Amino acid sequence: MSDLGRTAALVPAAGRGERLGAGVPKALRSIGGTPILVHAVHALASSRVVDLVVIAAPESELDDVRALFAEQPAGAEVSVVAGGPTRQDSVARALLTLPADVDVVLVHDAARPLVPTELVSAVVAEVRRGAQAVVPALPVTDTIKQVNAAEQVIGTPDRSSLRAVQTPQGFARAALQAAHAAADDESATDDAALVERHGVIVQVIPGHEEAFKITRPLDLVLAEAVLAKRRATRVIG
Ligand code: CTP
Ligand code: MG
Repeated sequence: MSDLGRTAALVPAAGRGERLGAGVPKALRSIGGTPILVHAVHALASSRVVDLVVIAAPESELDDVRALFAEQPAGAEVSVVAGGPTRQDSVARALLTLPADVDVVLVHDAARPLVPTELVSAVVAEVRRGAQAVVPALPVTDTIKQVNAAEQVIGTPDRSSLRAVQTPQGFARAALQAAHAAADDESATDDAALVERHGVIVQVIPGHEEAFKITRPLDLVLAEAVLAKRRATRVIG
């Protein structure tokens, strides 16, 4: 892949955050006094390898989300589209709006606001080196059981071959677009799953603990602690 095209980041942010259990959509909940979505977009933009960001926001929040980025420019071009009923649909809607000169596409969950900028750069570098699909991941620490409908264990996969996958996931634009166009349902919980079905090789690179997803209430406590640690390091350092 040449360096001629631009890099875009699609940010699915249209979820309701049911497991977090808030009245406000999850992406607009604040950590450290700033909305989760703003943290996520700033992390992408400050990597300096992302030229434009397309946010898929809840339909009811489009004006508020646009206002957020009008007030606080992110350092990359930001546009906002309405998300859909599933994550996959939200990503597909954002993908449709990309300009022609974009050749590398990241997909990054708004719900991973504290992703280190180095991880963003590492994913883009791997795609620019020629990978069609790149996912950051960590080894799993719990033993994983497979169960049937009656919650009876039917298997224990070998933990050493399992990875917990994060975002940003990076793709050659053509590979991601073809996979989304060919998808016959909207249930994929990450984009790599769609390109895997096409026989595209998905390269795993080391993820980062701070790229965790805010899913349940305890994750907000962890996010506040990470921000406090970063602030303390900045003051001392
Ligand atoms: N997402 C989206 N559109 C949807 C559903 C999810 O853009 N229809 C986004 C979320 O906003 C989030 C990311 O996909 O940034 C990962 O999804 P998840 O963590 O499951 O978030 P929610 O769906 O909001 O949470 P929950 O499943 O607990 O309702
Ligand atoms: Mg969800």
